[in-house]
Amino acid sequence: MTRDTLDAAAIAAHRAGLAAALDAGRAVLADGGSAIDAVTVAVSALEDDPHFNAGRGAVFTYHGTNELDAAVMDGQTRRAGAVAGVTRTRNPVQLARTVMEAGPHVFLSGAGAEDFARDHGIAPVDPAWFATPERLRQLEELKAHPQAWFDADMKYGTVGAVARDAAGHVAAATSTGGLTGKRWGRIGDSPLIGAGTYADDRAGAVSCTGSGEQFIRAGAAHEICARMRLTGDSADRAARAVLGEIGAMGGVGGVIVVTPTGETSMAFTTPGMFRARADSTGAHEVAIFGDG
Ligand code: GLY
Repeated sequence: MTRDTLDAAAIAAHRAGLAAALDAGRAVLADGGSAIDAVTVAVSALEDDPHFNAGRGAVFTYHGTNELDAAVMDGQTRRAGAVAGVTRTRNPVQLARTVMEAGPHVFLSGAGAEDFARDHGIAPVDPAWFATPERLRQLEELKAHPQAWFDADMKYGTVGAVARDAAGHVAAATSTGGLTGKRWGRIGDSPLIGAGTYADDRAGAVSCTGSGEQFIRAGAAHEICARMRLTGDSADRAARAVLGEIGAMGGVGGVIVVTPTGETSMAFTTPGMFRARADSTGAHEVAIFGDG
């Protein structure tokens, strides 16, 4: 997004949503909570905020539905949970967390994932909960200009969080509605462990946003962690190297990274990326565009 494509009201709303999610996650950590709790809380807040492409406010599929993907990963244990194509679960990140903690599998999809949710006491919502007029307008615009599909100017809006807790453990969570107009059961990088989401206390935690197809092909989140672990790259160097590979494939996007020592990166190859960062020293940053 650029300053030309977001008006003042939208900028203010996105900044407020980012700050609320950041503060929710920070409060968990300040209370001595775990990184996995912090990222779950932060992403849940963004899912409930209609300005972001996850949960309420998710983009529409070609057929006018909302199909939601999410994942979580705990760097201490490298346990992970993910769901794809859910349509009736208000907070897909919480369902992914339940998959991680209560199920025998890592990745569930569609009706089966919804069955698992109901079996574990997560009540369904009316699918209308997710719909917003702005996302419907975007679908109609896309259908009117089908050549714009996968255009680099498309706004993605996937949400994610990474955290490092007082014990030095890291975690990552990502949630998305995917791409406007997606069809054929398309699943992007966000719920794929190693592509859009990864966490490993030996390296760091990573959550990605952007053109999912290229992030999948790059194995982006795991590749960033592998570079940090095996080559000694800093978080930022690893992030930029992998975004460079994705760029060479024709993809764009961004990543957020945190390491067990508290090093961070918020790197992106798009004109802007909704982002926010805080730490226990009092640093507190909310930004959208390249210059803030
Ligand atoms: N990066 C989100 C997606 O491609 O679905």
